[in-house]
Amino acid sequence: MADPRKIILGVSGGIAAYKSAELVRQLRGEGYAVQVAMTAAAQQFITPLTLASLSGNKVITGLFHDGSDADTLNSAIEHVAVAQSGDLLLAAPATADVLAKFAHGIADDFLTTTHLAFDGPVIVAPAMNTNMWEHPATRENIAVLRGRGVTVVDPGSGDLACGTVGPGRLAEISDIVSRVRAVFAERGELRGETVLITAGPTREPLDPVRYLSNRSSGRMGFALAEEARRRGARVVIVCGPVSLETPSGCERIDVETTQEMYDAVMARLDGATLAVMAAAAADYRAASPAAQKIKKHGGPPALRLEETADILRAVGERKHGLFLVGFAAETERLEANARRKLQAKNCDLIVANPVGGATGFDTAANQGLILTRAGDVIRLDPMLKSEMAACIFDTAAALRLRQAA
Ligand code: CTP
Repeated sequence: MADPRKIILGVSGGIAAYKSAELVRQLRGEGYAVQVAMTAAAQQFITPLTLASLSGNKVITGLFHDGSDADTLNSAIEHVAVAQSGDLLLAAPATADVLAKFAHGIADDFLTTTHLAFDGPVIVAPAMNTNMWEHPATRENIAVLRGRGVTVVDPGSGDLACGTVGPGRLAEISDIVSRVRAVFAERGELRGETVLITAGPTREPLDPVRYLSNRSSGRMGFALAEEARRRGARVVIVCGPVSLETPSGCERIDVETTQEMYDAVMARLDGATLAVMAAAAADYRAASPAAQKIKKHGGPPALRLEETADILRAVGERKHGLFLVGFAAETERLEANARRKLQAKNCDLIVANPVGGATGFDTAANQGLILTRAGDVIRLDPMLKSEMAACIFDTAAALRLRQAA
């Protein structure tokens, strides 16, 4: 599984602060990681302990702790660390005070300082008394925020805690959560693209019972599929026999032999803009698989093998604008062998994996090198396959930008 996207949830003070408990619950239910930061006023309405329990993370309640100097220093820079680790900043409920501070760049507590240090998407879900919401100062602040690209989840109308009826009530929690989902999807760098991925081993039958195959688990290919989906792509995985769950939102085509994988890939090449061939497709198959089970009494059979189709090479020959990523699993001369494959199969980049050790087949981790046509070499120290998938797409994105320039 790739790391979940992290939401920095700023809770500010108003009666609607109690609804942040349900918001945290729903965001977690959607698979997001949540880091809550509460303003001092919010803590008057709901306890940090409640939100810490629901989010599974310590809640940040202030800019400075009263501890030792070292503590003070750590907490003084924590807003930068939190801002850097978050994928989205959501202020819900956002009071008139927080909206004004966001609009004017005032940074006098943890939430407002984090806001200034954060360079990702920001969503605000205001909640306040109707007069405060309709006050020209608030209207102007909202206009400034919208103009800056901030998503505003408008408050609903209804009975307010102060006894009035009108707009100002925090939007429905499910609406806030769907806006979060929409903002992530809109910002996916692969939005509008189709990514075609091969994964896992293939099996070549020797007889109706036996086959030739290899140790590939498909985990790297599936991590890539999940990452491409996270970045907004339509994803098609063509995979050999693997025991992995399909990442949500991906289309999966199961095949058995290299020829079936070849046919499935070729049939889907037209719409694809990026292809990653991560499968360990069998290079050889029995020239004439036995129709019946091979019996022992005849002595050890002589196996005559023939080459299978090379899918990556075939895609490389027809790629027309498609960005092509290959893999090279090597037991020796990692960089030289991988570079040869990069050229021979006309890839834009290739990921070279050393076989063996704590990384590789059927492990959560992987390591290796990314080689580009321009001769760049990027070292990938041992890391989770999900992290490696992110590095591969980051490198591809940078190269595509360079190619387009
Ligand atoms: N590949 C493929 N179809 C095949 C064999 C390999 O698409 N029939 C792809 C793999 O998915 C990988 C790349 O080619 O992206 C390199 O695969 P690898 O097995 O490392 O190399 P081979 O080309 O088989 O070369 P060698 O056997 O010499 O290592």
